[in-house]
Amino acid sequence: MNNIFKCPKCKKTFTLPSCDCGYTASCANRIYQLTSDPYMVKDDSAEVKYIGYEDIGEAYSGGAGFTLKLVDDKFDRIAKVIGGGTLLDLACGDGLYTVPLLKRGVKIIAMDISDKMLSLLYRRAENANADASNLIVCRANALDIPLADNTVDFVIANSMLHLISRPEIVVNEVYRVLKTGGGYITFDDKPNTSGVNKNKTLSEQEKADNKENDEMSGFIHGRYFQILKDEYNILGKRYSWNFNREKVCDDLFGGKETILIPIENKMQYITPALKYRKQHDA
Ligand SMILES: C[S@@+](CC[C@H](N)C(=O)[O-])C[C@H]1O[C@@H](n2cnc3c(N)ncnc32)[C@H](O)[C@@H]1O
Repeated sequence: MNNIFKCPKCKKTFTLPSCDCGYTASCANRIYQLTSDPYMVKDDSAEVKYIGYEDIGEAYSGGAGFTLKLVDDKFDRIAKVIGGGTLLDLACGDGLYTVPLLKRGVKIIAMDISDKMLSLLYRRAENANADASNLIVCRANALDIPLADNTVDFVIANSMLHLISRPEIVVNEVYRVLKTGGGYITFDDKPNTSGVNKNKTLSEQEKADNKENDEMSGFIHGRYFQILKDEYNILGKRYSWNFNREKVCDDLFGGKETILIPIENKMQYITPALKYRKQHDA
């Protein structure tokens, strides 16, 4: 797994930590430093802006809030889809997906722009007694993924495209690093608005679940944007909340294969279905 990296200096494939060109990635606290980019770019004159969570760090409540609600069943299903392949968890944050999948034996490269979030990931892994021998953790920018072309089997980039002013660049990078036939695993956020449940008549229980989901995510987003506004003078709406991931993915991937994995008999707070996109061209 450590031999598929793209050297930040000469751009050739290299094996962590050192490249033939003389570059050596520093590594402290088991986090490889594969970018020197800042944690956040909020300057409107910048070509691409993004919001890393370094300053949110411990206050990030998305993972903590949702984790209680996420069902094991979902991770079992994702792990089954990934099987023995290598997963890139891009903008992994504090390991909401990394850690449960690691526990299920998935081989993972986890990347985020925030050192703080990556150290929280290790804490989450330790709390969960997850074996980190199948894990490589890197500080990296999703806008320029430090992996060689066609090298990973699956990518998850959950809940991050909205933080990038040019999310299509990230989707292109995902496409570049995926092996032919690899999968970009994405998630629908609300059971009643997309995917398998789109045309379904909702039961009273499902409606109540959705209401609770909306309230919970509304609370988290509200708090998050308040922090951004008060402390950083960042207005979230300047970023990409309206980005049409489906369309960009469909255009880029030239067709898709979708495997819908409904979660049976469980309340769904995040994901009614797992979408699995295949890369069809060479
Ligand atoms: C809402 S959190 C999601 C974390 C995790 N994927 C999850 O599902 O819980 C967004 C993450 O994206 C990271 N991020 C933002 N911009 C990034 C960039 N340009 N490159 C890499 N990570 C980035 C943030 O630091 C943060 O950890």
